[in-house]
Amino acid sequence: MSDQHPEATIRPMRPDDVETAERLSAEAFHELDLRMHPRSLPEPVIRPPERGAAWVRRTRHFLETDPEGCWVAEDASGMLGFATSYNREKLWCLATYAVRPALQGQGLGRPLLAAALHHGRGSLRGMLSSSSDPRAVRRYRLASFTLHPQMYLHGAVDRTAIPVGTGEKVREGSAGDIDLMDSVDRLTRGAAHGPDHEVLLDTWRLLVSDTTTGAGYAYVGGGSVALLAATNRRTASRLLWTALADTGPDDGGTASVPHVTAANHWAIDVGLAARLELRTEGYLGLRGMEPPTPYLHNGALL
Ligand SMILES: CC(C)(COP(=O)(O)OP(=O)(O)OC[C@H]1O[C@@H](n2cnc3c(N)ncnc32)[C@H](O)[C@@H]1OP(=O)(O)O)[C@@H](O)C(=O)NCCC(=O)NCCS
Repeated sequence: MSDQHPEATIRPMRPDDVETAERLSAEAFHELDLRMHPRSLPEPVIRPPERGAAWVRRTRHFLETDPEGCWVAEDASGMLGFATSYNREKLWCLATYAVRPALQGQGLGRPLLAAALHHGRGSLRGMLSSSSDPRAVRRYRLASFTLHPQMYLHGAVDRTAIPVGTGEKVREGSAGDIDLMDSVDRLTRGAAHGPDHEVLLDTWRLLVSDTTTGAGYAYVGGGSVALLAATNRRTASRLLWTALADTGPDDGGTASVPHVTAANHWAIDVGLAARLELRTEGYLGLRGMEPPTPYLHNGALL
C-alpha cells in the first residue's frame, strides 16, 4: 500500500479550480499517452484548446449538478489531483480523475476516488470508463468495479460498403427528443442522462431514429461517435451506419467508434463491414450492472 502524500488535503472542487484541473488533466493524459503507446505511432499531442474548452464546459456542468461529487487534492504548491463524479437517478458515474504525473503512484489517487465514491453511496449502480493506466485499473478493481475491456474501431470508411438506404428512418434530433432519449437510456443503462443532454446537444450533432419497431439516438461529430443508445440492434446499426456515412474530408477522412464492449458485437460487425480497424483500449468499469447494450458509452458523460 502506498502512503498518501504527507502534506495533501482533499477538499471539494470550486468553480475557480476548473481551469487548473483542465490543464492538470491534459498534462496527465498526455503523459499517459506517451507512456502507453508504442513509439512507432505518431507522437501524441497535448489536448488542443477547443477540446480544453469543452472539458471546462462539461466540468462546470458537473460542479453545478453535483458539487459534492467533485474533489481536489492540494498542498501549498497548488492542485495535485482531482476527481469529478455525479449521480443520475440511481447510477453513479465517474467523469474524470487525474493526479499530476510526477506525483502518481504515491497514494493521492486513493482518497480522491474514495471521496467521489462517497457521493455515489446512495446509487445502486456505478459506471466509469477507465484508461489503460495500470494505476487507474488497480484503483477501480480494488473499489469492486467489474472490468470490461473496451474496443475501438478506426479508419477510413469504405464507401462502397455503405448499405443502400443508409440514412433512411434517421433524422436530425433536438432538445424536443430528450424525453425519448431518457426512456431509451433507462432501458439500456438503467438511468436517464437528464441534464447532461444540455451539454451533449451543445457539443455534438444529434441523430434520432424513432419507428414503430424501435427507437434510438446517436451524438456524433468530428468523425466520431460520442454516444449511441437504442432499443434494439437493428436501430443501433442503422444509426451507426448513418454516422459512418456522414464522415467526410472535414474529419480527416477517418471515422472513430470508441468504447465498444463485447456486449456490442453489432457495432463491431458494422465497423468491420465498413473496413475499419479494430483495437482495444481501456475498460468499462461497472458496479451493480451488466454492460449496456445496444449502447456505445461516452468517456465522461457515459
Ligand atoms: C489514475 C490516477 C488518478 C491514480 O492516482 P495515483 O495517485 O497514481 O493513485 P494511487 O497512488 O493512490 O494508487 C495507485 C495504485 O497503483 C499502484 N501502482 C503504482 N504504479 C503502478 C504500476 N506501474 N503498475 C501497477 N500498479 C501501480 C500503487 O502502488 C497503488 O496501489 P496501492 O494503493 O494498492 O499500493 C493517476 O495515476 C493518473 O492520473 N493516471 C493518469 C490519468 C488516468 O489514467 N486517469 C484515470 C482516468 S480513467
